[in-house]
Amino acid sequence: MDQSADRIEAVLKEERVFYPSEDFKRSALLAKPEEYQALYEESLRDPEGFWGRFAGEFHWFEPWKKVLEWNVPYAKWFVGGKTNLTYNALDRHLASRRNKAAIVFEGEPGDSRVLTYHDLHREVSKFANVLKGLGVNKGDRVTIYLPMIPEAAIAMLACARIGAIHSVVFGGFSASALAERINDAQSAVLVTADGGWRRGSVVPLKANADEALASTESVRHVVVVRRVGQEVPMLPGRDHWYHELMASASDRCEAEPLDSEHPLFILYTSGSTGKPKGVMHTTAGYMAYVALTARYVFDLKETDTYFCTADVGWVTGHSYVVYGLLLNGATTLMYEGAPNWPDEGRIWNIIDKYGVSILYTAPTAIRAFMKWGEQWPLKYRLSSLRLLGSVGEPINPEAWLWYYHVIGKGRCPIVDTWWQTETGGIMITTLPGVHPMKPGHAGKPFFGVEPDIVDTSGKTITGADEGGHLIIKRPWPSMLRTVWGDPERYERQYWSQYPGNYFTGDGARRDSDGYYLIMGRVDDVLNVSGHRLGTMEVESALVSHPAVAEAAVVGRPDPIKGEGIVAFVTLKAGYTPSDALSAELKAHVVKAIGAIARPDEIRFTEAMPKTRSGKIMRRLLRQIAAGESEIKGDTSTLEDRSVVERLKAAQ
Ligand code: WT7
Repeated sequence: MDQSADRIEAVLKEERVFYPSEDFKRSALLAKPEEYQALYEESLRDPEGFWGRFAGEFHWFEPWKKVLEWNVPYAKWFVGGKTNLTYNALDRHLASRRNKAAIVFEGEPGDSRVLTYHDLHREVSKFANVLKGLGVNKGDRVTIYLPMIPEAAIAMLACARIGAIHSVVFGGFSASALAERINDAQSAVLVTADGGWRRGSVVPLKANADEALASTESVRHVVVVRRVGQEVPMLPGRDHWYHELMASASDRCEAEPLDSEHPLFILYTSGSTGKPKGVMHTTAGYMAYVALTARYVFDLKETDTYFCTADVGWVTGHSYVVYGLLLNGATTLMYEGAPNWPDEGRIWNIIDKYGVSILYTAPTAIRAFMKWGEQWPLKYRLSSLRLLGSVGEPINPEAWLWYYHVIGKGRCPIVDTWWQTETGGIMITTLPGVHPMKPGHAGKPFFGVEPDIVDTSGKTITGADEGGHLIIKRPWPSMLRTVWGDPERYERQYWSQYPGNYFTGDGARRDSDGYYLIMGRVDDVLNVSGHRLGTMEVESALVSHPAVAEAAVVGRPDPIKGEGIVAFVTLKAGYTPSDALSAELKAHVVKAIGAIARPDEIRFTEAMPKTRSGKIMRRLLRQIAAGESEIKGDTSTLEDRSVVERLKAAQ
């Protein structure tokens, strides 16, 4: 937890409290602290009543018999019920919102498309039939490797319509990362594109897919969306053009009644081992929770245009670009490209162009906007904005204040939402019309969420502002159900440290008002630009290079990315450190994982600081990477003290 110390110090210096304006409160769905308090207390006292009442808004083919069955650590929500997420996200809105924009799309080159609920319902039904035609059955896995284009949402929803399980792989991941995920899920179909636009160039998705498919066996069919219009090789029998299959597909496909606990998706995320884990979410609980959080956290109104900058390849894209918004009948904006293309004003240009009212983005993006300068947002009309959100990493008060003043003009509340791939939905945040905001503090638990802060023995830390481990004391509807194919890992990873409680992997503290402040990961997981990366994952990529004997990867504070990656590397005999080798190793990691994992710095060393039992002391490496002159903490277990001295001298 030591690496967060500076951040915390900076946060504690900012003690101002900001209040939602009277104007915002007047039209807010929830505006009174007592209302929140009463609902929150009810949600804990009577989860059956609370969740049952809310889930009753949805369409059920068969009603559930029991709201929750909890056999630690396995939860079942809305037991015995049958529903379909796309029925609730699409069909249910046709009567009242048929011609309302469901998805507003802005391509990087500036092309634009609007899909109404009617359009989206039709496209999803057609693609569901396409999948059926390719032999996809209920329970089969479909990997989606697409840019941020409407077809990504269409493919996800089409899977959900027929009960196929989607596994979306972020388009920035490399061929080998894609292959690893396809193999783990044993996907039968891959949906990809000829390419996607990023800073004016083409991301060669189909080429990556072909390379991945050379080392996978499960995929029988590949569906290729034509996005960039580039010539790509098509393997007869295996590869099909999306537009050709769609041209002849029927637009009638009834939503399949699915068991509440039918798997909805798998999403791979990094843990503290080398292999990413397939976090599995199911249907009804996820549906109820993401819908309720989207509604209250973003204070959704019929006229809102909501813009979340996350890619559908991450959980934020699943829950708060696609599902949570469509379940509420809202308008969600998807942007394909980079925030600085063709210039640094692109996000503000989009807000101006479409009249965006809610913006949800990450602190790393906000820090980049700050660096680019306020002349960019000042060029555009941002008066349509009424609410701002932050997600993915702790937000430093400086970035919070900039976001609040320069973008929100002091009018828009900010919700700093803490959650994880595993939690499925937002867990800790302020509610925008209800709670005063404290920069750097995420805020209060959402309905049904019972967090606690404990010491390593599991005892609650009662003192205000005292750090500890963040746990969740009871199941919530959108909780992950397992790690795909590895229930043992699920139990060990989340439920063994504090038996009966979910361990988040984060450190946190709570102030005297009950506001949570998230301090960052306490395990070997990095947060680089709001993206989660395992140190071991990067290390195994490095040691797969013939020159590398041993690698230790640590994070170091980075003014824009939150955390940067520093890799300490020892070389095998016969290899010598050089800039060329350093560049080669960086490229090697990009090839193995993707550009998000590119080390900022490779530090060649003759030896690693190890304990006498041979464990690398990362704590020391973190301090060295951060350039600290004094190494703090206990070094008595160090096997060879001179290693640290030499590493420091080489700064
Ligand atoms: C980790 C989860 C949740 C969607 C995006 C990331 C960090 C996330 C916050 C926040 C402080 C945050 C945590 C968490 N995190 N949101 N508002 N304040 N930290 O999902 O990739 O599963 O990463 O992101 O460390 O454990 P993810």
